[in-house]
Amino acid sequence: MRCLPSLVLGALVLPAAAQAADPHSYAEPQKVVVSHIDLDIHVDFPEQRLHGIATLTLDWKDPAATQLVLDTENLAIASIEAVDAQGRVHALDHALASAVPTMGSKLAIEAPRHPRAVRIAYATSPTASGLQWLDPAQTADKKLPFLFSQSESTHARSWVPCQDSPAIRFTWRAHVTAPKAIRVAMSAPNDPAHPLNGSFDFDQTHPVPSYLLAIAAGDLAVKETGPRSAVYAEPSVLARAAHEFADTEKMIATAEGLYGSYCWGRYDLLVLPPSFPYGGMENPNMTFATPTVLVGDKSLVSLVAHELAHSWSGNLVTAATWRDIWLNEGVTTYVQGRITEALYGQRQATEETLLAIRKLQKVIATLPENAQRLAPEPRAVDADDELSDVAYDKGSWFMRTLEQKFGRKDFDAYLESYFNHFGWHSITTEQMLAYLRPNLIDRYPGKMRWDEVEAWVYGAGIPGDAPIPDSPRFDAIDRKRGEFLAGTLAADRLDAKDWNTQEWMYFLDRLPDTPALARMQALDAAWHLTGTPNAEIGMRWYDHAIAAGDAAAWPAAAEHATRIGRMYLTLPIYKALVKTPKGFAYAEAVYAKAKAGYHPLTRMAIEKMFAKARAPAHGTGEA
Ligand code: BES
Ligand code: ZN
Repeated sequence: MRCLPSLVLGALVLPAAAQAADPHSYAEPQKVVVSHIDLDIHVDFPEQRLHGIATLTLDWKDPAATQLVLDTENLAIASIEAVDAQGRVHALDHALASAVPTMGSKLAIEAPRHPRAVRIAYATSPTASGLQWLDPAQTADKKLPFLFSQSESTHARSWVPCQDSPAIRFTWRAHVTAPKAIRVAMSAPNDPAHPLNGSFDFDQTHPVPSYLLAIAAGDLAVKETGPRSAVYAEPSVLARAAHEFADTEKMIATAEGLYGSYCWGRYDLLVLPPSFPYGGMENPNMTFATPTVLVGDKSLVSLVAHELAHSWSGNLVTAATWRDIWLNEGVTTYVQGRITEALYGQRQATEETLLAIRKLQKVIATLPENAQRLAPEPRAVDADDELSDVAYDKGSWFMRTLEQKFGRKDFDAYLESYFNHFGWHSITTEQMLAYLRPNLIDRYPGKMRWDEVEAWVYGAGIPGDAPIPDSPRFDAIDRKRGEFLAGTLAADRLDAKDWNTQEWMYFLDRLPDTPALARMQALDAAWHLTGTPNAEIGMRWYDHAIAAGDAAAWPAAAEHATRIGRMYLTLPIYKALVKTPKGFAYAEAVYAKAKAGYHPLTRMAIEKMFAKARAPAHGTGEA
C-alpha cells in the first residue's frame, strides 16, 4: 500500500462515490461535504452526557445550495452558528425534525451564504444509541465509571452531528476533558504515556467515514506489546490482555507482507467491559475488542487479525453504502484468514473457514432471496441489519474462490493493487467490479467467466462449485459426533482432551437442533461444559442444553447471558429459552435483571426478538 499524504488525497474524490445514494443518511453530499470536524467536548459522567462543540468545515459543491443537512439522533442542540472566512460568527436558522426510527432527526441548517464552517453546541442523551455509560459497579475494577462508543453502522449521529454516511470522509481533531484519573482514548493515534490530567487531544489526519469515529473513557491502563502497538484495558484485565494479544506486531508485519505498508501509524487494542455489543470494532489506530476473547490460549485472536485487516479493507477502501458492506466484511474475513494461516498455520485457518462455511450453508437457505445476495437490491432495512453471515462468509468465500482460480501470486498482487487504487475512498460494489474485470478477470483469460463473478455477487445461494477446504480433524469429529448421537460411543470416549476451541465449536454446532436430553447430560457429565470460561463454547453448549430441555443448565446460561452483552454470544441463549412458555418467562426474568448492564443495541436486539417470539405472525421474515 502506498500511504499517500492525505492533503493530496483530499482532492482525489471519486465522483461516483459522492453520488452513491445512501438511504440510511439524510446528508446531501452532492450539495456540500463536511471535510473536517473539530470536537471540543466534555465527558460528563454524573449526567451521562457528552457536551460541547462540533465545528464542521464545509466544502460547498453546489452554488445553488441553501442548506446544510446533517444526521442527528437524540441530540440536544443548544446553538448553531456560521463561521465565515474572517472568523466572524453569526447564528443560523435551523430545523430539527422529529425522530424517525433508526434514522434519527434530520437537522436542516439554513446557510445560503455558504459559510466556511458551522459551529454546533450540543449535548448527547443518556440513552444515545451509540454510547454506553457504565457505573463503577459495572466495570471490572469497580472504581471509576466507563464510557464507550459504537458508531457503526449509523450511531455516530447519536454523539456527533454529522453527515453519517460511509461515502463521506473527513479528517478530525478532538479536545476532550474528563475527570482526572480517567483515560480517554479515541480512533486516532493515542499516546500510551499520556498523563492522567483530565485533558486529551487527538488528531486524525487521514480522511475517515463517520462510522469510524470512536471514544472510550475509563480506568484504563496501558501496556506496550510491540514497537507500534499497546493494549488498553482496566488494570485488573491488562496482563491477561497483553498475554492474549502478544502477537499483534507479528500480525501487522504479516499483513504488510501481503498488501504493503500499514498506513495508520500505531495499532492499539482497547479491551472493553463485557457489555461491548460486538466482538471487535476496527476503529482506526485503536481496535475496540470484547473481553470474551481473553481465553488464555490465543485460540480466539483471529478477531485481532480481522480488525487489523480492516485497516486495508474497510478503513482504506470503504463500502460507500451499507448495502455494499460485504466490501468491508467479506474482504476483511478473507484477509483475516490469510493472517491466521501465516501465523497459526493451515489447520487453524481451515478450521475457522469451515466453521463459517457450515454455518452459512445452514442459514442462507432460511433467508429471503434478496438477503442471500452479496449486493442486494435496495431494501428497506435498518443499516445494522444489512450485516449478516452473507456479507462475511459468502463475501470471503467469493474471495477464496478468486484466489483459487487465479492463484495466490496473481490474486495477492491484484488485491494489493485494489487497495492502492481505491485507498482513502469509499466505493460501491459496482466500482469494485469495474476494477476487477480488467485487472483480474480479463487480464488472465480462461480462469473465470464474468457470469460466474456475477452469480457470486448478484445471485442468491452459493455457487455449486464453491471450493470447500479439507479438514481431517473436523471429519473425525463428524464421525465421532455421529457415533455419540447414535449411542455407539459413550460421551467420555469422545477423546476430546486435545480438541481446540474451534473443534469444540464444530462439534457443538452440528448437534441436532433438539438433541436428546440424556445425550446432553452425559456430554456435560464427561466434559463439564456448564460453567465453561470459554464463551464461544458456552454459547453453543447452553443453546443445545436448553433445546434438549435441560433446565439444570438454565442458571449457568443465565449467568453467561447476564455477564456478557456481546449480542452474538447472548442472543442465542434468549432465543433458545423463548421457545417454551416456561423458558420465555425465565428469559424475561433474566433480562429484567440483566438489562441495566446491557448496551442500548443489545437491549434493542433482545426486545425485538422477544416481540417477534410473542407475535410470530407479524414477523417480516427479514433477518
Ligand atoms: N465492523 C465489524 C463490526 C460491526 C459491523 C458493527 C457492522 C456494526 C455493524 C467488525 O469488524 C466485526 O466484524 N466484528 C466481528 C468480529 C469477528 C468477525 C472476528 C464481531 O463483532 O463479531
Ligand atoms: Zn469486520
